Amino acid sequence: MSLPAHFPELKAISADLKPALASEIIALGFVAIENTDAKAEKEFKIVGSTLLLKSIADTFGIDLLDELKFFTPTGKAGEAFELPISAPDTKTERLLFVGLGDQSIASLRAAGATVGRKVKGKAQSVATFCATTDSHVTAHAISATMGAYIWNLKSGPKPLKPKIYFSTSALALKRTLAIAAAVWRARDLVHTPANIKTPAWMASNAKTVAKQPNISLNVLAGKDLVPFGGLTAVGNSSRKSPPRFIEITYAPKGSRNWPHVVLVGKGITFDTGGYSMKRPYDIMMAMKTDMAGAAAVLCTVSALPELAPRVRVTALLMCAENAVSGSAQRPSDVIKHFGGTTTEVLDTDAEGRLVLADGLAYADLKLKPDYLIDIATLTGAATLGLGKQYAAMYSRDDKLAAIFHELGDKSGDRVWRMPLVDDYADSLDSEIADLKNIGGKGGYQAGSVTAALFLENFVGDRKWVHFDIAGTGRSEVDAGENPKGGTGFGVRLLTTWISSL
Ligand code: BES
Ligand code: MN
Ligand code: ZN
Repeated sequence: MSLPAHFPELKAISADLKPALASEIIALGFVAIENTDAKAEKEFKIVGSTLLLKSIADTFGIDLLDELKFFTPTGKAGEAFELPISAPDTKTERLLFVGLGDQSIASLRAAGATVGRKVKGKAQSVATFCATTDSHVTAHAISATMGAYIWNLKSGPKPLKPKIYFSTSALALKRTLAIAAAVWRARDLVHTPANIKTPAWMASNAKTVAKQPNISLNVLAGKDLVPFGGLTAVGNSSRKSPPRFIEITYAPKGSRNWPHVVLVGKGITFDTGGYSMKRPYDIMMAMKTDMAGAAAVLCTVSALPELAPRVRVTALLMCAENAVSGSAQRPSDVIKHFGGTTTEVLDTDAEGRLVLADGLAYADLKLKPDYLIDIATLTGAATLGLGKQYAAMYSRDDKLAAIFHELGDKSGDRVWRMPLVDDYADSLDSEIADLKNIGGKGGYQAGSVTAALFLENFVGDRKWVHFDIAGTGRSEVDAGENPKGGTGFGVRLLTTWISSL
């Protein structure tokens, strides 16, 4: 589908110097070689074919290793040094040395982010030779575009568009583009403020995605939402931004017999907490990002026509605003979810699980998927143990959890499995309904676990995985791959997993 407005130009070039001479910057990766003699001078190696390195040295009349040593680098992944260079009839004016750490895929990603950040918002081009194998080049290039991410609603001049060149095959370029653009799109959705980003606006974005071949869309609003008691209880709090159930399906011809994946995303376009209002109010400011799960599943689908996996994928975006009004739910209300399960709402700020419950039950009862995956900025508690670099993962399926853990490391969207502690389930017992929406009794102090246990009531016997991305879905700092704001977490993981089925 069409690329986001400020998305960089990505181009595949051959592994020799010639095409790179059309770019302002040439990025070369280096590694520090461990020296057994601690007193000896540190040694370095520059990555790239002998031919490439020799032609750079000859063209620009420099001794690469000697120049590098001048900077006394550590070799840490993502470390960067710039050297002005020039030669007649070339556009190149800078050499960027980038540390490759241990040359793992994670290090190549860190190096990519550095490369992208150098050209972010500028009309400059960079040719990077840091990565050599296909999978490393793809990871490196995706991270480079992530590092170049830019978003704002300033009325002044628009950010300029950089060019990123890397040597890879046409096929790998297509895959890189599809995933990088999907991450970018998800970030754009998360960055958009809630006064613009209504549930109806989310549906119009889904409509744009659904213009692609093999994708269909079903949006429910108003009276059609009556069976979705969680979505309406939360979403009817806002008259200006009423809720939407958005179902978007990737189903090419012949896909009836392929594995069917259903992705459910939390799409709270703003979370005030409702009557159980967020305090202090500062913590409310970040809550335009509470639809990061919905953004991740929608943008994952956006990449599928290009990735063309032999998998049928349905994404359910549970979109609602959690506002305060005369039509907002009250703490102590009892609501009925899709499928009939009742919940006593004791905290209106535990709203994510209420909307997800409808989506999961709908998926289980109506769509009968082979895999049921949900992704949600669900609990602040998920961040307490794991910080903001790993998402919490819950599943009963050991095999599936192991696969996601491995693909998390591979894709860069890292996940860590947490236990569904059965002993804590009684904290969700209600005296007047099937469940209550917060883990009160027991004092188990495990908010992320009890939230996952709540969701499990709605997944039937499906192979289910829940990702709590409250920590990873947004970044507080503009550093590395991530801008301050939406990270697009989940897109790399889900596209990689779906492609592996
Ligand atoms: N959207 C929040 C979770 C959240 C917190 C996401 C911080 C990102 C950053 C969610 O709706 C929420 O309010 N959860 C409560 C649950 C509690 C009331 C049981 C929480 O984590 O405090
Ligand atoms: Mn909340
Ligand atoms: Zn929320």
